[in-house]
Amino acid sequence: MKYAAVLTAVAALATKAAAVGVQGTPEGFASSATGGGDATPVYPTTTDELVSYLGDDEARVIVLTKTFDFTGTEGTTTATGCAPWGTSSACQVAINQDDWCTNYEPDAPSTSVTYDNAGLLGITVTSNKSLIGEGSTGIIKGRGIRMVSGAENIIVQNIAITDINPKYVWGGDAITLDEADLVWIDHVTTARIGRQHYVLGTEADNRVSLTNNYIDGESDYSATCDGHHYWNVYLDGSSDKVTFKGNYLYKTSGRAPKVQDNTYLHIVNNYWDDNSGHAFEIGEGGYVLAEGNYFSDVDTVLETDTFEGALFSSSSSSSTCESYIGRACVANVNEGDLSGTSTTALEAFNGDTLATASTASTDPATSAGQGNL
Ligand SMILES: *[C@@H]1O[C@H](CO)[C@@H](O)[C@H](O)[C@H]1NC(C)=O
Repeated sequence: MKYAAVLTAVAALATKAAAVGVQGTPEGFASSATGGGDATPVYPTTTDELVSYLGDDEARVIVLTKTFDFTGTEGTTTATGCAPWGTSSACQVAINQDDWCTNYEPDAPSTSVTYDNAGLLGITVTSNKSLIGEGSTGIIKGRGIRMVSGAENIIVQNIAITDINPKYVWGGDAITLDEADLVWIDHVTTARIGRQHYVLGTEADNRVSLTNNYIDGESDYSATCDGHHYWNVYLDGSSDKVTFKGNYLYKTSGRAPKVQDNTYLHIVNNYWDDNSGHAFEIGEGGYVLAEGNYFSDVDTVLETDTFEGALFSSSSSSSTCESYIGRACVANVNEGDLSGTSTTALEAFNGDTLATASTASTDPATSAGQGNL
């Protein structure tokens, strides 16, 4: 009896140990990402240790079980910035980064800015890493992450990135990719960010899957001065294939997403709620297949006056897709002006293994983000 109980306890421990790691497998373009694979998990305890694990040249599974608060770790700066969006206390203001105010907003009133230095540039994440959170405990506060300059095979799952100089444009991005490959970001919550929640820069990012993430745009400061964040998902080129599936975009007002410059975007089964501006902005070189998405209380689903890309999107199931992707495309709900019949957009995905598509729903409101694995 006693012996059996011990055995049961040992078995339970073994099960617990085996459960530390990435849950599930990536869908869509980054489906072959393995991150740190079966490397022995490490548990950083300080911000320095976290930075070191993320940036070294070992394959790693890095498990977060607490908040890593970078606020104050590099001091603050007080300088003169500008207020291009208005002077109400609900408006974001801009740091004069690289003379941005002087060059682009010469007529904006100047204003004093005091920002946290650590937020400006995210933590470098090198190749072959899994960065995961335990339960709802893994939080990186005051600084984002960057996968750049050839970084590849990275998985980030079930963490939150929060509070990066939310009052200040140019105060920092949450998740940056620029010259990367095989990156899977899953069940990540981002909230109260100065600049972009997600930015894929002008270099090629190759194969990327952004799934089940919660983009929480609610903020005391916004470029639209209304508590809705404007800078959300910016997908730039020059050779990017992005799967964007199962994400929840709440209280946004722009760039949700902005797509351009040889970026192929399969955007499927996402849920937008309460957008006071626009969701999609599609520029030249944006190839977009949008299906099974649900828009609720979105002011402008597609900004039509800047539209220059290729779009396939339909409010009813479309059999046109069959000869291109091997199945019918799934209807969007309340798609507004996000309607397109471009087979150029479909051809872009010919031969790729695409994520599956289900009927549009509001499910991401409860299934996306940290703590919902
Ligand atoms: C990542 O892991 C793969 C497989 O073990 C290895 O071939 C590659 O060199 C690693 N990449 C880097 C940049 O360390």
